[in-house]
Amino acid sequence: MKMNNNWWKEGVVYQIYPRSFKDTTGNGLGDIDGIIEKLDYIKSLGVNMIWICPVYASPNDDNGYDISDYRKISEDFGGNEAFDRLLKAMHARDLKLIMDLVVNHSSDEHHWFEQAKQSKDNPYHDYYIWKEGTPTTIPNNWQSVFNGSVWEWNAPTKEYYLHYYTKKQPDLNWENPSVRKEVYAIIDFWLAKGVDGFRMDVISLISKRIAFENVPQSMSFIDVMEKVYANGPRVHEYLKEMNREVLSKYDAVTVGEGPGVNLEHGPRYVSTKEKELNMVFHFDHLTIDFGPEGKYDPVPVDFLRFKEIFSQWDQALAEDGWNSIFLGNHDFSRIVSRFGNDRKYHNASAKLLATLLMSLRGTPYVYQGDEIGMTNVAHPSIDLYDDVETRNAWKAAEAAGKDMNQFLKAVHWQSRDNARTPMQWDASMQAGFSTGKPWIPVNENHEQINVAAAENDPNSILHYYRKMIAYRKANPSLVYGHFEDLLPQHPYLFVYKRWDDKGTFLVGHNFRDENTNWEQKELGYKMDIGNYATPSSQFLSPWESRIYRLV
Ligand code: GLC
Repeated sequence: MKMNNNWWKEGVVYQIYPRSFKDTTGNGLGDIDGIIEKLDYIKSLGVNMIWICPVYASPNDDNGYDISDYRKISEDFGGNEAFDRLLKAMHARDLKLIMDLVVNHSSDEHHWFEQAKQSKDNPYHDYYIWKEGTPTTIPNNWQSVFNGSVWEWNAPTKEYYLHYYTKKQPDLNWENPSVRKEVYAIIDFWLAKGVDGFRMDVISLISKRIAFENVPQSMSFIDVMEKVYANGPRVHEYLKEMNREVLSKYDAVTVGEGPGVNLEHGPRYVSTKEKELNMVFHFDHLTIDFGPEGKYDPVPVDFLRFKEIFSQWDQALAEDGWNSIFLGNHDFSRIVSRFGNDRKYHNASAKLLATLLMSLRGTPYVYQGDEIGMTNVAHPSIDLYDDVETRNAWKAAEAAGKDMNQFLKAVHWQSRDNARTPMQWDASMQAGFSTGKPWIPVNENHEQINVAAAENDPNSILHYYRKMIAYRKANPSLVYGHFEDLLPQHPYLFVYKRWDDKGTFLVGHNFRDENTNWEQKELGYKMDIGNYATPSSQFLSPWESRIYRLV
């Protein structure tokens, strides 16, 4: 089947975490005017879409992923007036705006929940998910993503309510048609205003398995996510309804965040026949280093498996549907620290990852700061971490009597705050992010790694991103062409072919700190682009990437 061409397939997305992007008021929090100030910079990368993490009114228990008013932009960020200016300024530059839509749960400070918790006969009660019980008998053994039970006691109604995340993020009851209507009206409100699409937060979790049976103790959290919390019995019915009721009326792009969505479930969410979403974010490659006890028990990345995940997902969506290509975001470590070498081969490995992102089939997502090779941080104490997930995991580890020195190392490796340190604009005190005290400490390497320095260095990661994005745009075979891994069993090289009737490309990456033999024997190829100035004919240098074209 011929793939349908679309603007959101041919483009590249830049993801902004607004509180860490650019502060124009000096209060230490990034804001919408900061984004407006940097639009020309973003445009200069060659991207054509910006996904902005939540900017709605929120008490910020989970940095905006707990929304108290879905039609209001937080005053911290500049309010609705600033948002309207942003949208205009983006459209004037031909940039599309993708909002975050967080409707698996609301904030407990949303007026729906404030009403709902008061009494069982309140009209909003059924907007949430309740279970009767007593303060000492919890409905089941389900654990929240951020530690502790998913159930929180509500004394006035003598019931528990369900929360997959913090207790300030009660899950909405999608079984209730009024809830669904409200959600579609919210989507319609923003699309009618002119926004171009949505990234839908944990959308795979909206349909609950309402028998709420205990999960076996032996089940890993990844399995619980897939089989118990995600992919519930009505999720596809809801997404089809959402599409029919509102999305289909606009030319909007949708990408669903899909915890628990694996190869078995993924294709259905994005099949054009099913008419649900355009893309999903799956986490097969980003949970690859989770050990037996999960995220904070990390194990080395299995490189063969890493490659296999990309091949399998490409195949799964080759005929119908579309992939999103990403290596990190605001919930994971920095990509150069996690998948590259952020010390000795910082420059080369960050460029390798850029080449990877821009040469696979699917829509690439670049997270703010990755285009200059921002790295993880390693704070000496948990007190310097802000993220609710990190802090809760720390408390749980302490309570379980874990070795906390070891755990701090795991935090250095895995904390979501690695990706949330302020954007590094220049070498000044607060990295040019703010004139005040940032809400979270800047990474001390901002004196070396920053946008201003990168602009002045012709060999910088930043200039390479621009070059790679332009290269992808100029060669639609890299967007739509077939993909085949040519050396799936090679322990260090990722080598693949991309081709269609417009061109054939050979891509090679060396994922290690040593040279790796690679004699390019296939005839007729000419090298087009790469991250080393003088490539060898016998081997790939440490973290070298190259793209050849059949001429
Ligand atoms: C998603 C968001 C994450 C948030 C969670 C709960 O995974 O990306 O930041 O904490 O959903 O809304």
